Amino acid sequence: MHPRLCDDLDRLPGLLDETRARAVRLLTGLHDRPVARRPVRPDPVPLPGTGTGTAGALEAFARRWEPGFAASAGPRYLGFVTGGATPASLAGDWLTGALDQNPTSGLDSGAPDLERETVAWLRELFGLPAEHAGAFVSGATMSNFTGLAVAREWLGERHGVSVSEQGTGVLGDVPVLSGSPHSSIGKALSMLGLGRSALRPVGTLPGREAVDAARLERALEALGGTPAIVVANAGTVNTVDFDDLRAITALRERYPFWLHVDAAFGAFTALSPEHAHLVDGLGEADSVCVDLHKWLNVPYDSAVQFTRRRDLQARVFANSAAYLGPIGGDLDRVDLVHLTPENSRRLRALPAWLTLAAYGREGHAEIVRRCVALAGLLGERVAALPGYRLLAPVRLNVVCFTLAEAPERVGDLVSAIVDSGEAFLTPTVHDGVPALRAAFSNWRTTEADVERVAKLLERLSP
Ligand SMILES: Cc1ncc(COP(=O)(O)O)c(C=O)c1O
Repeated sequence: MHPRLCDDLDRLPGLLDETRARAVRLLTGLHDRPVARRPVRPDPVPLPGTGTGTAGALEAFARRWEPGFAASAGPRYLGFVTGGATPASLAGDWLTGALDQNPTSGLDSGAPDLERETVAWLRELFGLPAEHAGAFVSGATMSNFTGLAVAREWLGERHGVSVSEQGTGVLGDVPVLSGSPHSSIGKALSMLGLGRSALRPVGTLPGREAVDAARLERALEALGGTPAIVVANAGTVNTVDFDDLRAITALRERYPFWLHVDAAFGAFTALSPEHAHLVDGLGEADSVCVDLHKWLNVPYDSAVQFTRRRDLQARVFANSAAYLGPIGGDLDRVDLVHLTPENSRRLRALPAWLTLAAYGREGHAEIVRRCVALAGLLGERVAALPGYRLLAPVRLNVVCFTLAEAPERVGDLVSAIVDSGEAFLTPTVHDGVPALRAAFSNWRTTEADVERVAKLLERLSP
């Protein structure tokens, strides 16, 4: 064994203690750490020959890289849709690395069953019916990709061909209809060989990002019975708008389409009695995307995909080989390797399992309700501040606003926010207007954080 490996093996408990101490320092210092930073690249160093051992490598990381990292796990990082990591999920993540299980095969361990139990808990959390089977993927993009891959196979079934066997060429043009799809839908369509131009935008309701169900019906009617894919959106990134899922599912009685719902963070509204109606009908979808590194507050990377057609899913992702074992007839017990793009992967379910076990439905519902209340509070503050203008009502956990007089200067404002070190918000464009988004999904955020962000905005107001 290489001498550095030998030393590290002898000192493993001490090295893990040292790592733990560093992690504790990072986490207890989150409140004082600049929330975001302008990237500064340290001078490059060549690939080490002998290496320094873990202690030296930790030092080098702390010296060269760590100072440039953002406090994205902290309470005032309101950019994108970024969750933190609950204590239990962080513990789960550490154990995931320590156990280093590959849950894709059931030949050697109970790890796949832990994933199945976690998926079943999540299904219950989001109120999905038992017919929805699921598996873990790395994020909402891969969840959307997986759902749309199953949709593509369903289209083949409708046309009496098998896309997984014969390729996408047998399908011809595939209509994919959606109101305000996330950019990852286009990416997924590109990866699936359906092409980004398969996406046919459908008009939204006036002043909204939610699809106009009447226009969707007209678009489906115009297809003259050609099977299609409809991507419904449950929680858009800019204004957290929701398509009327009940109205869309009702259209299935008249038109043939696969209904995929991107509920990356919107699915969590099922945990708030006041907002649960927004995802009414989610269980009727053919496939559903839910991100977990957003509002479940597990560390990157983690998401779940659900579908009612596991048979089609296993056809798309089947990876049979003598050394892996056959798919087998029992779809409930099919090895996970046959369900998602990856072959080998980490046991992503463990952090999710631990946080659900530690805080349960009520703990996670409290996070959701608090985030919604805090977004509402910041919305009120921004509406009252001179120099700013809300661009949409705060429907859930995102405040979308702009500079009242000079929206084109939003980029400068974002830079000033970054330089303040106090918060991070991401720029966007809403309805043609440059804007800012403040997204609340971190379990640590409190009212005091909102007041601090409001004061910062007041200070930076032009
Ligand atoms: C609605 C929606 N779908 C998909 C995604 C993509 O998520 P990820 O970055 O985890 O792939 C996001 C990310 O913000 C999202 O908000």
